[in-house]
Amino acid sequence: MQLLDGKLLSQKIQQQIADEIILRKNAGKKTPHLAAILVGDDGASQTYVNSKVKSCDKAGMESSLLKFESSISESELLNEVYKLNESKEVDGFIVQLPLPKHINAEKIVNAISPLKDIDGFHPVNVGNMVKNLPCFVSATPYGILLLLEEYKIQTEGKHCVVIGRSDIVGKPMSILMSRNAYPGNCTVTLAHSKTKNLSEICLQADILVAALGKPEFVKKEMVKSDAVVIDVGITRLNDASKKNGFRLVGDVDFENVAGKCSYITPVPGGVGPMTIAALMKNTMRAVEQSIK
Ligand code: GUN
Repeated sequence: MQLLDGKLLSQKIQQQIADEIILRKNAGKKTPHLAAILVGDDGASQTYVNSKVKSCDKAGMESSLLKFESSISESELLNEVYKLNESKEVDGFIVQLPLPKHINAEKIVNAISPLKDIDGFHPVNVGNMVKNLPCFVSATPYGILLLLEEYKIQTEGKHCVVIGRSDIVGKPMSILMSRNAYPGNCTVTLAHSKTKNLSEICLQADILVAALGKPEFVKKEMVKSDAVVIDVGITRLNDASKKNGFRLVGDVDFENVAGKCSYITPVPGGVGPMTIAALMKNTMRAVEQSIK
């Protein structure tokens, strides 16, 4: 078994981006600028957004974190999105999800300019992704593709099983793995909460992507020998033996599955850091406006 080391690859990508930014600055070109909107005080969202902004700073990017109380109205938030769409400074931005219940997230995402939508959530970007046209690809699936590429994982003709059909991960991942591209050209099964015989289906997977948000759901008995296992989940479980009182676990029972597969992503240090690296790559595309 070999680890798919997302921490290491993300550091390599962030160094490449830092080098590119220096070259841009020396050539008198604009410094890329990412902005993030965070609404409310959800602990996990705060952690994610802070690490996104921190990674940008480290690579020499400009970044802005716009924080709003959870009482912000939908129209006020829409106005903030419009301002960022018009901003000459900001090249790309994200609105961290989930949003408070009184705000229609769909409406907010649809208001983001597709040219600045570095999360790849806007329907224009989703549509272009499906058609294999230039677009921003959602950061988590994009990060997974980068990881598969780095480790030269063969994907053509393989059976890829994705568990979870979220707009952010499962759905785009299933489309990307079936595209006529590398990584891609897989036969894809998209499994979800209503899927029957899930264990049997998972057992057929050459590449198994677990993105259902249930800690340690994927057991050894569900994994084929020498499969490639991608664990997208990250859940805090209370653990009194830890200094901070919790431990992070993925959707895969890592301890028992690891010995059975050919490659596996650890949690933490697998998909998580790759999401940030992919977001930064999208920001570089946004400043270069190559998406146009
Ligand atoms: N919430 C969970 N993952 C993400 C992500 O990749 N982007 C945004 N905007 N919100 C999220």
